[in-house]
Formats: sequence, structure tokens, C-alpha cells
Amino acid sequence: MGYVGPRTDDKALEVIMEGLGRLEYRGYDSAGVAVVAGALVETRKRSGKLSNLRSALQEAPLPQTATAIGHTRWATHGGPTDANAHPHRGGADGKLAIVHNGIIENFHGLRQSLLARGVRFTSETDTEVVAHLLSEAFTATGDLTQAIREVVASLDGAFTVLALHADQPHVLVGARRNSPLVVGLGEGENFLGSDVAAFIGYTRQALELGQDQIVTITPETYEIINFDGTPSQGKAYEVTWDAAEAEKGGYATFMEKEIHDQPHAVADTLRGRTDVDGNLALDELHISEDELKVVTKVVIVACGTAAYAGMVAKYAIERWARIPVEVELAHEFRYRDPVIDAHTLVVSISQSGETMDTLMAVRHAKELGSRTISICNTHGSTIPRESDAVLYTHAGPEIAVASTKAFLAQITASYILGLYLARLRGEQTDTAAVMGELKEIPAKIEKLLGTMDRVREIAYFMADSRAVLFLGRHVGFPVAMEGALKLKELAYIHAEGFAAGELKHGPIALIEPGQPVFIIVPSPDSEHGLHGKVVSNIQEIRARGARTLVIAEEGDTDVEPFADEVIRVPRTLPLLAPLLTVVPLQVFALHLSTAKGLDVDQPRNLAKSVTVE
Ligand code: F6R
Repeated sequence: MGYVGPRTDDKALEVIMEGLGRLEYRGYDSAGVAVVAGALVETRKRSGKLSNLRSALQEAPLPQTATAIGHTRWATHGGPTDANAHPHRGGADGKLAIVHNGIIENFHGLRQSLLARGVRFTSETDTEVVAHLLSEAFTATGDLTQAIREVVASLDGAFTVLALHADQPHVLVGARRNSPLVVGLGEGENFLGSDVAAFIGYTRQALELGQDQIVTITPETYEIINFDGTPSQGKAYEVTWDAAEAEKGGYATFMEKEIHDQPHAVADTLRGRTDVDGNLALDELHISEDELKVVTKVVIVACGTAAYAGMVAKYAIERWARIPVEVELAHEFRYRDPVIDAHTLVVSISQSGETMDTLMAVRHAKELGSRTISICNTHGSTIPRESDAVLYTHAGPEIAVASTKAFLAQITASYILGLYLARLRGEQTDTAAVMGELKEIPAKIEKLLGTMDRVREIAYFMADSRAVLFLGRHVGFPVAMEGALKLKELAYIHAEGFAAGELKHGPIALIEPGQPVFIIVPSPDSEHGLHGKVVSNIQEIRARGARTLVIAEEGDTDVEPFADEVIRVPRTLPLLAPLLTVVPLQVFALHLSTAKGLDVDQPRNLAKSVTVE
């Protein structure tokens, strides 16, 4: 993040540290700041969490000024050491510093040329190359904006770079290619950040930058140009949430708060979706309904938790709209020469809207002539901006690295899309009944959350588990995989989610006495006798000594003889069940992580927004 404040003021460092606190979820293996201090730029940086940087600043305070940049890092090139932490200085005169997100793919060649010119490096990062190039360009031009414009022309890869120079003490410059950067517009002060969380404590007026653009801010002005030097204008918007929503609100962790936000996330995503005639509405639609009517295939691209939301969507869209749906991990889709065309609708699902793997999949789909719809939680982020249509989820800011409320909102939005496509295609789906039941879901989640004491006890009891299995069938299958993912990332326990029908084809060999297994049981109302089949699966693993932790609908007594524990969820339509059955699994992972004394909100090796491929 970057800040330029009133020339007479000196709160830059305070603003930056507060902003970094809100951005830390994006990366937390090291952090640093740089300020303009008289004729020079000074930096402080430390490996580890932001608290290490705070201590460093207490031990050796920086001079207070009006202009500063800061960074929290998720290491790509060079380990998470003090030396590799950002900001990085460029040149030997101590006047310039930059911070950078992304990867400079051609950094090696650039570094060799700089070394040949006698430049000395102090880190192993790709970023330092940019800092030195920028310093050289500034020496030649005397202007930071001009210098950055020259330098970006020589860079390959994805980047957001922010730079400051002591000779232009009230100027900050930012440039972006394939990596997020937003401008915050204050009164006599301006901000740059990877996302609006950076400055939400100060202003809700934001400006979106386009691809390949440079922004120059001073306390009173901002100016945007394209990489080719032509002037441009950003798209102004008002952030719809405030600083309080990005606080823990009395909960011990962001994850716990976000789990409890879920009734709102679902309700807010549903709100305003039907007009007076009962038609369903998308947020931004630049594809005609006629084009959507002739779609012959839907391909959903996403990563991680969002991909599991996509798997749930497949069941619903195929059922309601009678279109074949494929779900694919975005990074696999992009590089396997997918067979798609103008009659394919590619639906991306992403909380951040910046996941590079997903963005690349969307771009590839567009190159192949397909139509693209984005289901996204972050207004104005890159993926929705580059898609033909957008269905925003309204989960509010998700700060905990492990996704919870965004997942429920993504599933909700997928149902809306499924019903919309069904209507366009004239399918006889009882939209009113589904929408009616969806509207009941927030209250049901609320009720469910009030019954989680036993789940917490089970989690504490199981803190020493070495492996946990999760079984599900139909829409319960992606829920099983999501339950396993939550446990892996939060409690560092080996966990696998299986399709219950697959058990006898291999995984049942894993069952030994005492092995804990969660089973997500379909509603007794499910078609094709699915409920009975899963009850049989429970018996099969119980007979081999498994400890069975059964998630079943209220009133489902069939499971009781074979369950070591029964966790009840309210009744709903079978296709909507994931909005409820996943909740105990989220709560379980949260408490097991807490029981092990781990950092729930910032698990090791992860970052919230994966903006590199
Ligand atoms: C897991 C998790 C990740 C994300 C994935 C995609 O808890 O959060 O698996 O779901 O990295 O991120 P978005 O949705 O931002 O594209």
C-alpha cells in the first residue's frame, strides 16, 4: 500500500501500518515500510508477521513524514528473510524504494545486465531488479512517472509496483499488469492499495485502474496513463462496506466471525435478484439473452474452495437448466487445449476476482470465442471486469485465509445462475419453490450455528488425530472435499474427501480401528435411494472399526444405529443441502486448529489472494 498525505502532516507511517494490518491476510511471511525522510528514503523490514515489523519500528523509529509505502509478502523469489522483504531500494544514492506484487518472469536476464553494469544486489528477489532499473531511469528523466513508464516496457510477467523517490517527496507512482491496484481518494490525501481494505479506515471513495496502467498520486491530485503514455480515466466507485466489517466484531478470529456472517452472506447474495415479474437478474450482462439461450455447454473454472462451489453448481445447473456442465480446476483447464467454442458458457468462480490461474482460464476462454460469466465477491476486481457478465456475491470482506462465507455465497449465486438459465431455456423448473426455500436458508444456518457446542467438543477431543476422512455423495461429495480442505489448511492434518460410492473401489483399505470418518448423509427425500446407499456405506466402514461422525438431517433416525456421533442439520431441498452440511465441517476445522494452538486466520504457507500462476 502507499500513502501521500498533507504536506504539513506526518501521519504516513501510522496510515501505512494500519493498512498493512488490514492487508496482512494477503501474505504474511515478511513485511516492510519505506518513508521519504528529507533527501533520502529510509526503510524498515522484517521477516515473519507484521508484529515483528512493529517491534522493529519501536526499536528503531522512522522519521515521520507525509509519504510512505508498505508491503506484506508471500514469498515467490527468495525465501522469507529480512533481506528479501520489501520495500527494495534501487540505485546507490538511497533515494528510491519500491514494493511489488507478482512475478517478473524475465528478471534473470535483467539482473545479469544490471550486474554487468556494476549494480550490487542485496536480495534474491525479482523485485530488486525493478528497483535498480527504476533508479537508472529516474536519473535519466528526473520524473518518477516517466521512469516507471520506461521500465514497465522491459518487464514480462505480472506485477503491481509502487514507487517513491526522495527528489519528488509528495508523489507516489503505481503501475499494474495482471495484478490488482486500486486508488483511494481522500480529502487532501490519497492512497494506493492491493485492495480497498488498505484504506477503508479513511475513505470509501475508490478508483479502479485498468490493465497496463500507471497512476501518479499527490495529496491533492491523481493522474492515470496507459503504458503507451496516452491519458486515461479510472472508474470511480464507492465501497459498499466499511471498516467495521473488516474487524473481528467481538469474535476471537476472523474465521469465526465469518462463519457467523454466513446467514447474511446468503441473504445479501439473494437480495434483489427477482424483479416484480419474478425474473432473475444478473448484475452486469453484456451478453444477450438470445446468446445465452443457445449455449450448449457450461464449463465452470475455479480453484480450491471456489472449485468445490462449482461442483455443487454442476448438480444444480444440470438438473434445472438441462445443460451439460463441466467443472475444471482453472490451472488444468488453461493448459490442456479445451474443446470450447462460441456456444460454450464459461463460468468463473472467485472470491477475490484476482486469482491468476482463474483469470488466465477466463482469458483463454475468451480467446476461443466463448462467453464468460464471473461469480465474484470483489467489486471491480480483474476477473469480473474482463468477463461478459457478472453475478456478484455479497459476502462482504473475507479476511480469514480459509474461505467460509464466500463459499456459501458462491453456491447461492450458482443456484441463481442455474435458475436463470433454466428460465431462459424454458425448462419446467419450479423457480418459485427453490427461491422460497433459499430464502429460508439464512435462518436455518443461524439455527444450526446455535447447536455447534458438541462439534467443538469433538474437535478438541480429536486434536491428536493424524488423518480424517470425509465421505459424501451427490452434492455431499464436494462438501466432503471442502471439509477435508478446511482441515488440511487450518489444522495441518492429513484429510481426504471421497465420493461415498467410490469407497469400495479402494479407499476402504484406509479404514482401521479408530479411524475418524465424517459422512455427509443425503436427505431421506433424495431421489434414487441415495440416502439408503450412504447409510449402507456407514455400516461398511463401521464394521471395519471406523469412528463414524455422521452429518444427517433432523429426523433422520436411520443413521442412529451406526453413528458414533450424529450432527443434525435442518431439513431443506436435497440440492440446497450443501449450504447447511458444510457449516459443521467449517466449525470443526476452526476448533481443531484452535485446540492445536495454531493461527486460524493465517495458516502457514498460504495467502488469501493467489495472484501468481
Ligand atoms: C481455501 C481457499 C482457497 C480459495 C482459492 C480460490 O479455503 O480459500 O482454496 O478458494 O485460492 O480463491 P478465489 O476464490 O479468490 O479465486
